[in-house]
Amino acid sequence: MSRFITFEGPEGSGKSTQIRLLAAALEEQGLRVLTTREPGGTQIGDAVRAILLDAKNTQMSPRAETLLFNAARAQLVDEVIRPALDAGMLVLCDRYADSTLAYQGYGHSQPLEPLRVLGRYATGDLTPDLTFYLDIDPLEGLRRKQTGAVEEWNRMEQKKLAYHQAVHQGYLQLARADQRRWQVIDAGQDEAAVHRAILARVEALIPIR
Ligand code: TYD
Repeated sequence: MSRFITFEGPEGSGKSTQIRLLAAALEEQGLRVLTTREPGGTQIGDAVRAILLDAKNTQMSPRAETLLFNAARAQLVDEVIRPALDAGMLVLCDRYADSTLAYQGYGHSQPLEPLRVLGRYATGDLTPDLTFYLDIDPLEGLRRKQTGAVEEWNRMEQKKLAYHQAVHQGYLQLARADQRRWQVIDAGQDEAAVHRAILARVEALIPIR
């Protein structure tokens, strides 16, 4: 039984903080935990990440964008995630294939079915056991994350608010369609409350002992 948990949510929803807190809590219980993130998490993936997020790449086509995210993902699965799961570790990943459905699918109005096929190919059919959606209004999320000028935001963050709202609605639909895997958490609460909610669900839903 693999133990693979992913975190999804708009910009500024606090995913990385919550992953850090959860990893520490699970390690305290004696578990071996690996944390990683998308896009990136490998040398090759980080090079792809730099292309994807470079604000100069304004001409990138939605299909090219989709393929690059999946290229970084395939590398991460093969090089990091699968070996860790095979070694009996619990893996926490900041974003995964659902990000592509939300951002490139719902966000860019691309049909979902080919994206799902591509996602299965890129991951070699590795599906998370549990996916947390840290739910926050996208405008509030962008505000939380961005203190600098809009010119300093990365290429994905600079997309229009309507795009981020479509992404948000997409996530909610994905979560509704598979309530066994998806756990929606109110990320507007304070950090400690969000952490307690996540830890309680992990302990209830994943066989960690
Ligand atoms: P990052 O700085 O890692 O943001 P965050 O902390 O919100 O994860 O930037 C990653 C950006 O890439 C983010 O805007 C979401 C986007 N993204 C996609 O559009 N599709 C994908 O498949 C993935 C993994 C990320």
